[in-house]
Parts: sequence; structure tokens; C-alpha cells
Amino acid sequence: MKIGILTAGGDCPGINAAIRGVGKTAIVKYGMELVGISDGFTGMINKEYTSLTEKDLSGILTLGGTILGTSREKPFKNSVKGSKEIKKPVLIKEHYEQMGLECLVCIGGNGTLKTASLLSQEGLNVVGIPKTIDNDVWGTDITFGFDSAVNIATEAIDRLHSTANSHKRIMLIELMGHNAGWIALYSGIAGGGDVILIPEIPYKVEKIAEYLFHRAEENKPYSIVVVAEGVENPDKTKSVARYLSNMITELTGLETRETVLGYIQRGGTPSPMDRVLATRYGSAAADIIAARDFGKMVALKNNEIVSVPLADVAGKLKLVSPDNPLVMQARNMGTSFGT
Ligand code: F6P
Repeated sequence: MKIGILTAGGDCPGINAAIRGVGKTAIVKYGMELVGISDGFTGMINKEYTSLTEKDLSGILTLGGTILGTSREKPFKNSVKGSKEIKKPVLIKEHYEQMGLECLVCIGGNGTLKTASLLSQEGLNVVGIPKTIDNDVWGTDITFGFDSAVNIATEAIDRLHSTANSHKRIMLIELMGHNAGWIALYSGIAGGGDVILIPEIPYKVEKIAEYLFHRAEENKPYSIVVVAEGVENPDKTKSVARYLSNMITELTGLETRETVLGYIQRGGTPSPMDRVLATRYGSAAADIIAARDFGKMVALKNNEIVSVPLADVAGKLKLVSPDNPLVMQARNMGTSFGT
């Protein structure tokens, strides 16, 4: 059996560990043939691929990024009948057959898994593996990449504490997560953030200012404000951290500084937890392929690997519930969510 594997969407730590998990299990346990597709769905459209042997998978477990390359190509976007773009899904189907594939493994986040589901509806044998630092894929408790991003973000918050203390400043840190607040919530709690702002809980800037002013009045020398990039930003000309930083100074007279952590959160070697999770997902994906249980995404539920239909995952988001126990506990300990 010959299987293709691609990685699409934003990269994250652990992708290579997942490729290795799929590939080694497919080759060693099942004697399958493995083909690596270049740059996500672009490689399927342009028929750019390379054979992968077991040897090619050695030494990649700890590598950040993806050895296959990635892109944000969405082949079904604008693929309405009569448009030129209709060709992309057709080309993917043609190339899948010409390459002699019996399954396409798609490693990606929400966009990728939606495309994977559509390709499955088009008759291709597809298996999905959820990856993203954002942890916002529906149907799984966790995506790999998230733990590494939380580790990096937490270290950044830890480092801000000492400089905030020296200068008696309010430090804001803006973290990734797209429309979800998972990274900000977890690293905010792990790093002891005084204010945590996530898109799922609308904030009021006056409440944040009031809270920070009160802390200063209580002689707390500094404060840390953790901001998810997806929170409301009324000033599109600047980052939300800069907007809030200016507003807080205006409303309280306190000195502020902001840091936008950015792509640091996505780069570099995966954490041990992500290496293990990606390996589990990859190996389980090969088992699913061998069982010809196509049209599924591997997922983690209560620390057990399960599979869920791609059609159920497609088009949904897993957001932080405002009643999440972590939110409630943080509130009970005095953390402000800007409300
Ligand atoms: O989905 C991962 C992510 O890093 C988000 O947190 C962020 O909003 C987005 O990707 C950035 O996308 P791009 O790589 O296209 O700049």
C-alpha cells in the first residue's frame, strides 16, 4: 500500500515527530510505501513529492518546522463551477491517482482538516492528524504544538516578571492563538499573570485599569497582563497589546510596556509532551490506514487515542468556555479577566 503525507497551514513544533510516527509504523509494521508531498496542498496541485524511506525519518524527531514544507493553500476556496479554481480539487484527484496513492495523510489545523474532509467527500481515502499551537481543533482534547507554545510563552512571562519588578511597570504580553484563548489562558496561569484577556471573554478596558490601579494602591510593585491576539482590538493600526498599553497609561497614569511574542511560539524543537503526543497520533494514523478506516481524524479523549469523522470536525472550532474550570479557579484566586 502506498500512502502520501502532507503538512499544511501554520507550522508548529512536533510535525516532524508526527511524520516519523506515521512513516515508521507504516513502513516497519505494515510494509507500506511512503511518499512525502511538498508544501501542503500546493504539492498535490503541482505534483511535487518525494519517496520517503525509513532512513529519511531518522533524526527528525526533535526538529522544529516540517521537513515537507507547508503552505496555506486552500484548494476548495473559490472552487465554484465555471471558475478557473475548480481545477485545483480535480488536479489533486488526478495526481493522487497518477501517484498511485491509496491514502493521503493530512497533518494540519482547522483549515487543513476542512480540506481533508472535502477531499474525503470527493472519494479520496484521507486520514487527518490535528496539529496547531492554537489548540482549537474540535473533537480532540489537545493538539500537538500547544504544549511547546505554552512552554515558550510561560518562559517569556517568567522573564518579564523580573524586569517588571525592577522598573515597577505594567508589562503586557500578546500571545498567539488566532480566535481562541488557550495559549494565553494556560501560560497566563502558569506564569502567574495578574490579568488574562482571551477572545471568549469580552473585556472592558476601564475594568482592567481599575484593577491595575487598585494593585498599585496596594503597593504591588508591578503587574503582568497576558493578552491573546484574538481579543477585540478597536484600533486596527496597532497591535492589541499596544492599544491596551496606551489605554492603561491614559486611564491610570502608570508606566506600561508591551511585548508581542509572535512566531517565537511556533518555532524550534517540540517539548517532550508534544513529541510523545505527535508520535502517538502518527502511529495511530498508520493503524487506521491499515484498517482502511478512512475519512477520520486521530484524536485524544481522556488520554486515549480515538478517531473521529473528519466531517464532524470540519468547520468547527474548539474555544475556551467562559465557565472553564481553569478560568473559574483563576478568578477565585483574584486573577482579572477584564470584566
Ligand atoms: O494557527 C497558528 C497561528 O500561529 C495563529 O496563532 C496565528 O494567528 C496564525 O497562525 C498566524 O498565521 P501566519 O503564519 O499566516 O502568519
